[in-house]
Amino acid sequence: MSKFLNKIVNDDALEMLKIIPSKTFDLVFADPPYNLQIGRELKRPDESKVSGVNDKWDQFKNFEHYDNFCKAWLKECKRILKDNGSIWVIGSYHNIFRLGYHLQNLEYWILNDVIWKKNNPMPNFKGTRFTNAHETLIWASKSKKSKYTFNYQSLKCLNDDLQMRSDWTFPICNGKERLKKNGKKVHSTQKPEALLHRVILATTNKNDAILDPFLGTGTTAVVAKKLGRKYFGIEENKKYFNAAEERIHNTNVIEESYLDTLENNRSKPRVPFGSLVELGIIKPGTSIFDQKKKNNAKIMADGSIKHSSTEGSIHKVAAKILGTESCNGWTYWHCNIKGSIKPIDSLRQMFLNKNI
Ligand SMILES: C[S@@+](CC[C@H](N)C(=O)[O-])C[C@H]1O[C@@H](n2cnc3c(N)ncnc32)[C@H](O)[C@@H]1O
Repeated sequence: MSKFLNKIVNDDALEMLKIIPSKTFDLVFADPPYNLQIGRELKRPDESKVSGVNDKWDQFKNFEHYDNFCKAWLKECKRILKDNGSIWVIGSYHNIFRLGYHLQNLEYWILNDVIWKKNNPMPNFKGTRFTNAHETLIWASKSKKSKYTFNYQSLKCLNDDLQMRSDWTFPICNGKERLKKNGKKVHSTQKPEALLHRVILATTNKNDAILDPFLGTGTTAVVAKKLGRKYFGIEENKKYFNAAEERIHNTNVIEESYLDTLENNRSKPRVPFGSLVELGIIKPGTSIFDQKKKNNAKIMADGSIKHSSTEGSIHKVAAKILGTESCNGWTYWHCNIKGSIKPIDSLRQMFLNKNI
């Protein structure tokens, strides 16, 4: 196994990235410094201190300094991504526009921006602006040509059979998951595991290799390990690195047989039954029937079907006959195709295979 897999290092990302061979990773998840430019210490109305991001690692001299830093690591990440790989970057209004600009300049291909809506955001204590209740993630493939991974069906399933949208709601990292030492947060921006779970499940497969160049407390590596993916993380701060190492060590992998993702069927183009009627592949007035030939229906010119007093789509009428919520009309209904009785799905397949 490559020395850059299932390992984390306490090092500077810019130095470390340079020595990783090209095309090593399937996915990069980067949660870089935000460059928040916080001046004075933030206090609540009762004068207690707000534990925001005023860490040294987040401080840059000016925008130019920050831009040069981002260009350098994004360029290296592109080099070490496989051709069909993709990258996620996460940030706030302070840095996400700059990151998007550099991604496009470097000829990554932006696929989506995703809003992570926090259902428990930190209030705007001064009351001078809107509560900043979200962060933005940008998902981009290595190039326009990349055949990137997108587990569409799994995400749909995660979302109760509705297509997954680009606005995600998760709480900020809290409770047992939040690493603390002597009652104080170990890291000011530890990300919730649920967020990484969705990212990793959506855009990688089992055994894929994931890089996080700004690992912090190790959230990406922990979720990657749980989900049977390989990980490599870089973190320059020793305290965070140690916390990440311990956390990864204590993480159990989900049993291999539970890690399969649903197969995508987007490669199969959708053909509505009505199109077969429009194209004259099946003619209005044709009889279709169930396998036992107990029920039959007639095809109408608009692609609907009629069975005694019931009319509607091939699926609706079949469901009505069976007394069920739904039914796949493509396999319920049959017809005579060149002298043999076959499900009407065969007509669709013949059409797709250009055999008609
Ligand atoms: C926004 S935090 C990442 C938090 C992480 N996602 C988590 O869940 O804990 C950014 C991290 O990048 C680290 N960092 C900043 N500059 C770095 C550099 N040049 N090389 C490596 N790590 C760096 C910081 O120490 C900080 O922990």
